[in-house]
Amino acid sequence: MVASPRRSGAGRRLTGARWPMHDAPATRRATLVPAVRAHVAEVAAIEQACFSDPWSDASFRQAIDNVGVFFRVATEGAGGPVVGYVVAWFAGGEGEIANVAVAPSARGRGIGGQLLDAAIAAAADHEAEALYLDVRESNSRSRALYDSRGFVEVGRRRRYYRRPAEDAIVLRRPIVREGAGGAAGDSRR
Ligand SMILES: CC(C)(COP(=O)(O)OP(=O)(O)OC[C@H]1O[C@@H](n2cnc3c(N)ncnc32)[C@H](O)[C@@H]1OP(=O)(O)O)[C@@H](O)C(=O)NCCC(=O)NCCS
Repeated sequence: MVASPRRSGAGRRLTGARWPMHDAPATRRATLVPAVRAHVAEVAAIEQACFSDPWSDASFRQAIDNVGVFFRVATEGAGGPVVGYVVAWFAGGEGEIANVAVAPSARGRGIGGQLLDAAIAAAADHEAEALYLDVRESNSRSRALYDSRGFVEVGRRRRYYRRPAEDAIVLRRPIVREGAGGAAGDSRR
């Protein structure tokens, strides 16, 4: 497994960021492209808006430089502003989504789902048998998204997060490749 750039021993964090009261039309999806260094400033700005214990710019640069890391950004049209991103890695038949976020102003349009679907497809491409992630117990919006993509709770890490301290729920999503019985939601790009 690739070394995580997390700083505090904690996994994913939730700041209590507020959700928009009125979501934009679901048809306004984003363009997903591999992250490059020119995206780092925008990605880091979204990260800081989303998490109380954000990854540093250097962590994102390292993720870009590591060819083993799956790092996609969502942009508003080709070459447009960055509105979200996902970071994942795959090794030993398993995958982990290390980071996923959508800019507060772009939420509720399916972009988080797009990013998650891309990571699930990449897990299949890497022949991973399962994809894992950690989520704050109280992060109901993210948990609804993960539930919609077939992730199920398989564990709990007591007081895993800080600022504020909170348990992490460990989620697992089996990846069943085509020809091996199939799995609903195994989207491929
Ligand atoms: C979680 C996050 C990535 C979702 O991004 P998004 O672009 O808003 O997600 P989507 O529009 O694809 O919505 C995904 C699901 O969220 C849920 N959802 C959407 N709007 C919601 C709302 N207003 N209230 C509650 N749940 C909502 C739905 O289950 C939706 O699934 P559906 O499209 O089948 O209805 C985004 O809210 C975010 O960046 N949050 C802060 C960072 C974070 O918590 N990251 C995850 C750490 S584990």
